[in-house]
Amino acid sequence: MATRHFLTLLDASPDELHYLIQRAITIKNELKTQGPSYAPFRNRTLAMIFEKSSTRTRVSFETAMAHFGGHALFLSPRDTQLGRGEPIGDTARVLAEMVDIVMIRTFSHAGLEEYAAASEVPVINALTDDYHPCQLLADVMTWTELRGTPRGKTAVWIGDGNNMCHSWINAARQFDFRLRICCPEGFEPRRDILEAAGDRVTLHRAPAEAVTDADLVTTDVWASMGQEEEQAKREAAFAGLQVSEALLDRASPDALFLHCLPAHRGEEISETLLDDPRAVVWQEAGNRLHAQKALIEFLLLGRVES
Ligand code: CP
Ligand code: NVA
Repeated sequence: MATRHFLTLLDASPDELHYLIQRAITIKNELKTQGPSYAPFRNRTLAMIFEKSSTRTRVSFETAMAHFGGHALFLSPRDTQLGRGEPIGDTARVLAEMVDIVMIRTFSHAGLEEYAAASEVPVINALTDDYHPCQLLADVMTWTELRGTPRGKTAVWIGDGNNMCHSWINAARQFDFRLRICCPEGFEPRRDILEAAGDRVTLHRAPAEAVTDADLVTTDVWASMGQEEEQAKREAAFAGLQVSEALLDRASPDALFLHCLPAHRGEEISETLLDDPRAVVWQEAGNRLHAQKALIEFLLLGRVES
């Protein structure tokens, strides 16, 4: 049987994604009531390849494996042969001889696909320039915990048509909600990703119009990792797209605000937005742990009865 990978949200069916969200909620509740007593992966190893910085992703994957009774290995190109030009496919074959599952944060999505094609153990996308599907598991989990199923609801993406935006588009397809994307000209999401989502995803230019009566509002930094040199140009292009309490007031009265973090106060969000009760970003960040546990378990064991 072909090895199962998780490179985008499209690598799981809608039914499997619903299972993962419900399973993550169960895992979270059991952790609260019983502590980290569920340890199905004693002596199993997760290799974590990080070519970009991370706080949440690294800590959540590493903690997930510790709770599960296994181990996580942090690998950076600075101190592995990957950084000295060993081919991606050779690295994938070697690691699959030793570890049970691999997580990669890198620049090129094609590079991640090349790795996965050569890997006999499951590979998880922990962020590429094009997608961040693990974040969406935590985001949809948070939305579901607080407001029930996202199905038929409306989310709004304000900002750059970046990796997070692409994964929100895929989430709209898979979880069947509407998504309004508000971005400046020249910073739209990739056309093929947008078009594949059909008419449930729409493009907007005016934030006030985009957020009207929405159930959820989300944004991300204006310059992603690898785009640091474009910071000034992007600040100019995105001026007027800051999410503030006043902008959220135009959304539905029970709207939520999500941000994958790290956030830049005074840029994509107002200085005080994260203190607003509609902002549930700490719960969202914490849910990375539970959602990834559900994902690792699914990739290694398949569905588990709750
Ligand atoms: N949201 C997220 O992936 O955070 P890190 O970059 O800290 O992992
Ligand atoms: N779009 C951001 C997400 C960080 C979690 C980046 O790629 O830097």
